[in-house]
Amino acid sequence: MELILLLLFAYLLGSIPSALWIGKLFYKTDIREHGSGNLGGTNTFRVLGKKAGLTVTTLDILKGTAAVLLLALPYFASVNVHPLIPGVLAVVGHMFPIFARFKGGKAVATSGGVVLAYHWPVFIVVLITFFIALKLTKMVSLSSMIVSVVGFLYSIYHYIRTGDPYLMIMIGLFGLFIFYRHRANIGRIKAGTEPKVKWL
Ligand code: G3P
Repeated sequence: MELILLLLFAYLLGSIPSALWIGKLFYKTDIREHGSGNLGGTNTFRVLGKKAGLTVTTLDILKGTAAVLLLALPYFASVNVHPLIPGVLAVVGHMFPIFARFKGGKAVATSGGVVLAYHWPVFIVVLITFFIALKLTKMVSLSSMIVSVVGFLYSIYHYIRTGDPYLMIMIGLFGLFIFYRHRANIGRIKAGTEPKVKWL
């Protein structure tokens, strides 16, 4: 029973559509009707500005972190499951949220939050990589995909060093999610029409 509740809570946490709710609550705007239409931090930045974008990105990261940290609650103390499982469910919830007709974000921030809870040094590595990639490419989508590759390479190094294969499995899976959810962006990058950020 505890296991089922844990998995359900992890999915529901990931399902919280922060971009949709913040947009509607504070800006009377449904961001699905603007910009790329994506329910994520980048589109919130684009449509509603820095404050809203930063808030949504932070909340989306925290959803992933919180899903993994659920395991630390005394109620779930008897549950014997690898943190990878609730983490993946949170990311699935973020991509297919029950609270937004199963049309959610592109897995980047919430995956980052899971990684942060599981092995924080890799989060620092991907965060630094993200800003370097963004400075060079000016494209959040491309930087997100570059980050998922760099994160995966780091996880291979982690596996060789510690023998723990789970970070590699988790980041590999998140990388697949991220590339799959960026199909439209990949098309636009190839066509040279992907929007670029102006503030960096
Ligand atoms: O995290 C999503 C980002 O990589 C792309 O978002 O709105 O430009 O499709 P968007």
